[in-house]
Amino acid sequence: MSDRTMARQVLLLIWFLSLSSALGQVSYSIPEEMAKGSLVGNIAQDLGLDLKRLKSGKARIYTGDSAEYIELNKERGVLLIKERIDREALCGQTTPCALHFQIILENPMEFYSVNVEVIDINDNPPLFSKNKMVFEISELALSGARFVLERAVDADVGINGLQSYTLKPTDNFILKSHSRSGGNKNVEMVLQKQLDREKQDIIVLVLTAMDGGDPQMSGTIEIHITVLDANDNAPVCSQSVYKTSVIENSPKGMILSTVKASDADVGSNGLITYTLSNTADDAMKIVSIDETNGLLTVIGEIDFEKNKLFEIDVQATDQGGHSDTCKVIVDVIDANDNSPVINMMSKSSDISENAKLGTVTAIINVQDIDSGENGKVQCTVKDSLPFTLRSTSNNFFSLVTDGDLDRERESEYNITVTCADEGVPSLSSSVTLSLQISDVNDNAPVFDKSSYEASVQENNTPGLSIFTVRARDADFNQNARVSYILEDSSVNGVPVSSLVSVSADSGVIHAVRSFDYEQIKDFQFRVKAQDGGSPPLSSNVSVRIIIQDQNDNAPQVLYPVQSGASVVAEIVPRSADVGYLVTKVVAVDVDSGQNAWLSYKLQKATDRALFEVGLQNGEIRTVRQVTDKDAVKQRLTVVVEDNGQPSRSATVNVNVAVADSFPEVLSEFTDFTHDKEYNDNLTFYLVLALAVVSFLFIVSIIAILSVKCYRWRRERMYYKSGANLPVIPYYPPLYADVGGTGTLQHVYNYEVCRTTDSRKSDLKYVRPCSESIISLDTSGAQTLPHAQRDKLTNDDSFDQRERRKLSTQSEEEER
Ligand SMILES: *[C@@H]1O[C@H](CO)[C@@H](O)[C@H](O)[C@H]1NC(C)=O
Ligand SMILES: *[C@@H]1O[C@H](CO)[C@@H](O)[C@H](O)[C@H]1NC(C)=O
Repeated sequence: MSDRTMARQVLLLIWFLSLSSALGQVSYSIPEEMAKGSLVGNIAQDLGLDLKRLKSGKARIYTGDSAEYIELNKERGVLLIKERIDREALCGQTTPCALHFQIILENPMEFYSVNVEVIDINDNPPLFSKNKMVFEISELALSGARFVLERAVDADVGINGLQSYTLKPTDNFILKSHSRSGGNKNVEMVLQKQLDREKQDIIVLVLTAMDGGDPQMSGTIEIHITVLDANDNAPVCSQSVYKTSVIENSPKGMILSTVKASDADVGSNGLITYTLSNTADDAMKIVSIDETNGLLTVIGEIDFEKNKLFEIDVQATDQGGHSDTCKVIVDVIDANDNSPVINMMSKSSDISENAKLGTVTAIINVQDIDSGENGKVQCTVKDSLPFTLRSTSNNFFSLVTDGDLDRERESEYNITVTCADEGVPSLSSSVTLSLQISDVNDNAPVFDKSSYEASVQENNTPGLSIFTVRARDADFNQNARVSYILEDSSVNGVPVSSLVSVSADSGVIHAVRSFDYEQIKDFQFRVKAQDGGSPPLSSNVSVRIIIQDQNDNAPQVLYPVQSGASVVAEIVPRSADVGYLVTKVVAVDVDSGQNAWLSYKLQKATDRALFEVGLQNGEIRTVRQVTDKDAVKQRLTVVVEDNGQPSRSATVNVNVAVADSFPEVLSEFTDFTHDKEYNDNLTFYLVLALAVVSFLFIVSIIAILSVKCYRWRRERMYYKSGANLPVIPYYPPLYADVGGTGTLQHVYNYEVCRTTDSRKSDLKYVRPCSESIISLDTSGAQTLPHAQRDKLTNDDSFDQRERRKLSTQSEEEER
């Protein structure tokens, strides 16, 4: 109700009072909001009027302009609620709130004032104008910060009006209200405990306003607080230490691990970048990190042998500069990427072939820098080699012999030592060492043949090389240097060294002298081959030299004896038949074989038709009947020829007398003596020859006797002194003989060469030095000093025989 309406009512009341006298005044008090028809008061009774007066007086209510909330029931004489009364609409905040109206009666005119006080009931709750308040508060807001809240309004008055506020929950904020001028209260909330967006980013509070009515009524409003982020949180790594492992030599780009850090802040405050912070380390060269997602990748070479483990410090930083550091420990797993390395600590380049089993030839050190199985190394050599490896101590091996060595079978070994580790796959390396087997004199020289046989023509030139023996030695160098030595022995009592010599280094066998088949047909000796080792080894071989005959002797006629003086004749009787054996020419030849195969031929005859000579047997036979006309004196010349090449021959004269009686013969043969001139000469020669032959015969007898005597004495001496018969040297001391075997050292041969050169006149033949050992010329004269030669001629029985042979030769020449 407006003030104007109230003023009008007041004016109306005053008018009535001036028109008629006011008869009485009644007051009532009713609560607001009573139902229509509810009783306000018994007005008739209170005014002291009876019901008839009310009717007759046409009693009515006068409210002026104002609305009629109350009606008058004339029958009952009571006032009733005509319309619901809302105090707040009627009076607002004004108190007390009353309705003023008059009851007017006519006949007589009377009026009465009625006052109805409307009493407030709590029918309005406190109300907020909005249902929600929104705040944005930084989490960094300090406690004590104030935030003004909206106030509530309660239409009721008095106790039913707004009384108090509450705020829930009260975790962070408390409510503070203080009165303002005009009775209204200011409401604020004060930050009591700091906000944390990370705990709660939106806070909803409920502010409740309460009145004091009964029942109490309240109104609420939600307070929405959005907590604004501040960079108040550092990033946090999900683990402070990450552990991972990687195989060495992993390819670049391989992902190692991921570092994850979180930041409770949002937006840029929560944006994390990852960096490596151990700048000094090698790790920077090996690993890189993705700034945005913390992915660690390999960028360098991972070598177990350099780093078995590395630690990576990762820093996670947000935009605001807060950071956290975590560690990534990377274990490097070894891969078998290193071959064993073989070091030769010491080695010998050669070993003797008689080295004992287990002789150390090399010491090897093996290193494999890998670890575990990858670094365990085993070394081997080929089984077929006579060597083995022995592990002495950690990674040291010695190469020792475990088989027999023989330089002659295998003079050099290439020993390959292979060392392999136990990794998968295994790596290996090898080294080859070359070992020479040094020689030991364990092989004797071996002759090409088990025995030698050679032949030489008699009458050879002294110094002739007959043939060569050869021995080989399987050893090496000095141990294989073979020298040939003639073994001392004697042939028919003559030292073999006077027959042959052996060249020490070439093995050529030379004849020392001219051989005579008629004296010696063959002989045997031994040649020793000795190597130059220490001690030397030797072997020997038997050599047989066969002397071949030459036709050097003419046939000798034994019968008929040729004598110049006597006239011997064979008598053939005239009665002799055809084929009568006149005589037989007997001849011998000291040569042998064909050279001694004689044939007989008739060379001259008085009557060729009468006689023939048996070609083979030398029998002279008649070929026809002897007649009287045949001469008594017949002379035949028979030639005896041997079969040698060229052949040699002898002639013999045979006198034949063809007669019946001896006187006839005699008379005839006196004619023979008539050839005086011829016969005298012949007789002289025959006598001379006979004298010479007799002299030589006596000399021979003496010589033979003296030889026999010498031999006898020598045997006596031999038996006395045992086997050690002193060897009588037959050449100058200059030619020092090795063991008296007739073999000359090379140097001495050279000396001989020079010596003979300086006396060219004595030299009968010139040969290479090695062949000119001791020379004898055909006449038996040696190129030796006279003293030596004298001794030789005296002592050497062979030479005596030689001389005897010479004398018989000259005898024959004389003949
Ligand atoms: C050993 O090696 C050397 C050089 O490689 C070679 O000349 C020689 O023939 C080899 N010897 C053997 C017995 O294999
Ligand atoms: C010659 O060799 C044989 C074995 O072949 C040996 O029995 C003998 O003693 C050797 N003779 C000499 C003189 O060395």
